[in-house]
Amino acid sequence: MNNKKVGIVGVGNVGATLAFNLASKNLCGEIVLKDLRENIVEAMALDISQSANAANSKTKVSFAHNAEDFANCDVIVITAGIPRKPGMSRDDLLLTNAKIMTSVINDINELNPNAIYIIVSNPLDAMVYTALKASKLDKNKVLGMAGILDSARMSHFIFEKLGYGEGEIDASVMGGHGDDMVPLANYSTVEGKPLDKILSEDEIEEIINKTRHGGAQIVKLLETGSAYYAPAYSTSLMVEAILSDNKKVYPCAVMLEGEYGYENIVAGVPVRLGKNGVEEVIELKLDEKQTAEFSKSIDSVKELVDTLNSKFFI
Ligand code: 2OP
Repeated sequence: MNNKKVGIVGVGNVGATLAFNLASKNLCGEIVLKDLRENIVEAMALDISQSANAANSKTKVSFAHNAEDFANCDVIVITAGIPRKPGMSRDDLLLTNAKIMTSVINDINELNPNAIYIIVSNPLDAMVYTALKASKLDKNKVLGMAGILDSARMSHFIFEKLGYGEGEIDASVMGGHGDDMVPLANYSTVEGKPLDKILSEDEIEEIINKTRHGGAQIVKLLETGSAYYAPAYSTSLMVEAILSDNKKVYPCAVMLEGEYGYENIVAGVPVRLGKNGVEEVIELKLDEKQTAEFSKSIDSVKELVDTLNSKFFI
């Protein structure tokens, strides 16, 4: 993977931590950072390059002075966007970030004809939809990071409840990256055993609730900003799967075209990742309750997408 180039747009906490992960693990040949804040992006590139040198990694880290520096990337991760400020409605955030997403894509799309895009900006599913529309790329080339993060949070809360199983908990979360996400107890395992065979319904419900509010819990504690270690690490797994063509299955936000019975909407589902981006959408068998929860989650994303279609893509 030493001939591969990764571009990262936005070097806030998530973008910078992602670059640090990729560079110190020698996961690609080159990382180029792009951000409107000139001094900050230069400082990040220097600091992360120096950490890569400390790790004896071969990954070169630089920042984009111009459009050409940010050309011919194999994977591009977009974290750019504003967080919600007091007094702003969800729609304000949606439309502002849709504008930012569209201008980022317009800026870099032409010089990156082979890139796979990983979107991290919020509201996640609506931003994947925006990136797809703006780039006009095939749906396998634009995907969003959320399911790995939400599943990692669920694993954390399972461990917190059980007090054992560390490193052997595989949780599974589907749906949109919002309060209506769908944690799947029967597809989550501890040391290979399904969660619903280990914990009671009430205990599982408690874990599901904590998972749904896991991001907000951190936002509240931090007072400004949101989580970044777990989001960045989750994104690095997707980058690695694509660059190494390892065909691993991860929950990611993708455009559905008939899968699970939905069309023209983005939601988190398990997908197989490889050099072509999304290589397969895996259709899990959902029970009645999960089907209803997934439908509710899709409705929440649809509301945002409808707003985009009526107020933004006109
Ligand atoms: C999170 O869940 C903010 O989406 C981000 O932490």
